[in-house]
Amino acid sequence: MEILMASETFDLPPYFNIDPDKAMEELGAATDSAGFARIAEACARGRADLAGRGLNQEGRKTLRMFSTWEITRYLIPVAAAHFRRVLRQNPALPQGRSASDGGAKWFTLDEVLRLRAHFAAEGSQAKEYRPYRPEGQPAKIVAVANFKGGVGKTSTCAHLAMSAALDGYRVLVVDLDSQGSMTSIFGGRVEDEWSTVFPLLARHYASHLQRDNRARSDRGEDPLPLDDTLSEALKIGAQDLIQKTHWPNIDLIGAQLNLYWAEFQIPVWRMQSRGWKLWDALTDRLEADGLLDEYDIIFLDTPPALGYLTINGLAAADILLVPLGASFLEFDSTGRFFDMLHSTFSSIEEVENMAARALGREGLHFEWDAVRAVVTRYDSSQQAELAALMQVYLGSVLSPHRQDFTALIGQAGEQVNGIYEADYRDFNRETYVRGRQAFDATYAAFKRLLVGVWRRDEMAQDDRTG
Ligand SMILES: Nc1ncnc2c1ncn2[C@@H]1O[C@H](COP(=O)(O)OP(=O)(O)O)[C@@H](O)[C@H]1O
Ligand SMILES: [Mg+2]
Repeated sequence: MEILMASETFDLPPYFNIDPDKAMEELGAATDSAGFARIAEACARGRADLAGRGLNQEGRKTLRMFSTWEITRYLIPVAAAHFRRVLRQNPALPQGRSASDGGAKWFTLDEVLRLRAHFAAEGSQAKEYRPYRPEGQPAKIVAVANFKGGVGKTSTCAHLAMSAALDGYRVLVVDLDSQGSMTSIFGGRVEDEWSTVFPLLARHYASHLQRDNRARSDRGEDPLPLDDTLSEALKIGAQDLIQKTHWPNIDLIGAQLNLYWAEFQIPVWRMQSRGWKLWDALTDRLEADGLLDEYDIIFLDTPPALGYLTINGLAAADILLVPLGASFLEFDSTGRFFDMLHSTFSSIEEVENMAARALGREGLHFEWDAVRAVVTRYDSSQQAELAALMQVYLGSVLSPHRQDFTALIGQAGEQVNGIYEADYRDFNRETYVRGRQAFDATYAAFKRLLVGVWRRDEMAQDDRTG
């Protein structure tokens, strides 16, 4: 009743009674293609300004410090009193800094890593000071993908990378999205495609072409030319592309807009030399350049499309995470994403295996250690029913963990990206603890997969070696 009565005095909704002349006045001139350049330039200037605010004098991001409370609560499983005692007994260990006499002690992450190493060497063997990684097993490659944008791919990938680093793993993040969100989160600098994965893919193709040319000359055919790009790429290794970040144990291969060029170049190469196994390019190069020994986990953030870069990333992945919101639209499009994955990879297998059979060789068979859909931005008060239904249909493919929606992500501010970079003193302690819980739980669910997968490999290795 109240609503009806009030409505008589309400203003009309804003879309009624728009005055055409006023609208025309406000409109401004028509836009031509040069107009896009002006808009882009304005954005670039604004971006530089904004980015500059999150950077220190040297133009680099810095990571915040970690307090004794946070270290003993979240990072090194010891009681705070014991932690302080061990520091007192070992004056050579980092002692931390405090703003006031007797105030809380703060440490850099580098120092936390050194302290962890000390506890791992000296402390109780029963405690997990170092995260599990079986000896002799290569790093695991983790792709976060879904062809829908805005589902939480980059947020999930960045938070997993940060929590794995806090947990003590050595992490490499590879940005395959030419929008470069992951790259800006980690403060990466990428001039052009030559500082992205592009040269690795080009090098893989160039090596293939060299082999192909030898076979051609054996058959008395003319070789295919190696252009400047390919010759240049042959000189570049993954180490040349890896950047340090403001996290001591997270490195980055960045991306920027030019990486999109790969989407046009890859099919051209493939047309030129049909035998090129483009889907192996990233895996082969990461392995050949020793990165699977140098790191524990390699995270790939992918663009919202099933293009060649994504296919490369997915083919390289051991673990595939597919974030999606618990909404009908996202469920629906994620179903179609899996359908596309099936047709893409099975058609690659089919074509390859036809050739392989003809040559009496072993066929191609893609395999992933684990594939999980992950509900992101979950609101239990609104989405419980839909999530439960998704769980029924997807079964174990849907991770039982649901990543709660948290305002902390948006609030973390322009200096920091994600809750692990935020200083808890900027928040109400309860809000912080709950927000952090959401991503700690996401990490825990992922780590279960990782540990299980590594363990399975380790057992298989033991079986083989007796
Ligand atoms: N758990 C979460 N709670 C709240 N907001 C989130 C959460 N995860 C992601 N977001 C927000 O959703 C938006 C899209 O996330 P993003 O990771 O960029 O998606 P994608 O990489 O799939 O395009 C971003 O604004 C991000 O801050
Ligand atoms: Mg993204």
